[in-house]
Amino acid sequence: MEAEKTLKKSNSLKVDNALGISDIISIDEFSRKQIELVHKIAAEMEEMSIKEKMKILEGKVVGSLFFEPSTRTRLSFESSVQHLGGRVIGFSDAKSTSVKKKETLSDTIRMIEKYVDCIVMRHPLPGSARRAAEVSTKPVINGGDGANQHPTQTLLDLYTIKKAFGKIDGLNIGMVGDLKYGRTVHSLATALGEFDDIELSFIALDSLKMPRHLVESLEGKVKIKEGRSLDDFIPDVDVLYVTRIQEERFPDPYEYEKVKNEYVVSADTIKNAKSTMKIMHPLPRVNEITLDVDDTPHCLYFEEAANGLPVRQALLGLMIGGLK
Ligand code: CP
Repeated sequence: MEAEKTLKKSNSLKVDNALGISDIISIDEFSRKQIELVHKIAAEMEEMSIKEKMKILEGKVVGSLFFEPSTRTRLSFESSVQHLGGRVIGFSDAKSTSVKKKETLSDTIRMIEKYVDCIVMRHPLPGSARRAAEVSTKPVINGGDGANQHPTQTLLDLYTIKKAFGKIDGLNIGMVGDLKYGRTVHSLATALGEFDDIELSFIALDSLKMPRHLVESLEGKVKIKEGRSLDDFIPDVDVLYVTRIQEERFPDPYEYEKVKNEYVVSADTIKNAKSTMKIMHPLPRVNEITLDVDDTPHCLYFEEAANGLPVRQALLGLMIGGLK
């Protein structure tokens, strides 16, 4: 009964799995208990032998459909499938598919779901992963849908924080940069609402602030501070989550030019930070973190990217590999 109360259960589970989730579309479908289950399995993945792992997705085929560029998400998912003994089909450039001949997303998914056991997809349109999940009888995992959500990034971000601090509760997490179009911060802020005594510091220009509906949805769950000056927040944050200004989502290139260099984190910027403060970034970075930060003990972003592997292995193992 306790598990039933704490799991956000899907009504129509496509595949029976221990997560109790049909598709991974949005992080708000995850309770704290479900996040902790993913992290437990991810930690097990880091310890498991190659031989044991290779049985988890034996005989399974995963569709990797990337309608938008990606390095980490696509390659860590594809590497995860291969580490678990499965196979991958898919594309990293939709121009090489019948999308080029104007095939709709729904029709594309209706076909591909017949060829695979699970679909991982990234698409520029917000809501596209939800639409794919509606037409697919196989689980769909959202690898980023426009400026909307990036739930698997959030699960690996939380795993990274947990590994670095030994906990997530009680931390002050600063998010800086493009909080309007940055899907990773939308998902991460939402997930942090599941934890206790979290303080969120949203640092952005007025034109790139966290969407109001997200701030309102977090009221009463976390303590929120907002401001423009990074210097004001640096001494207090435990984690500084830096985001790239999402050039590709600006309707007006001139608006991007005006804001692109507003926040640049350097070793000098963080001189007043706590010695334990960690800097995260979903990557790729453009120029928002200078290279001199890479060699400081504050740098956590490369470890964060590496954690994509155990976390995505855990998700695939839970969704279609029968892991519990
Ligand atoms: N963090 C992330 O989503 O990176 P990619 O765009 O390279 O997948």
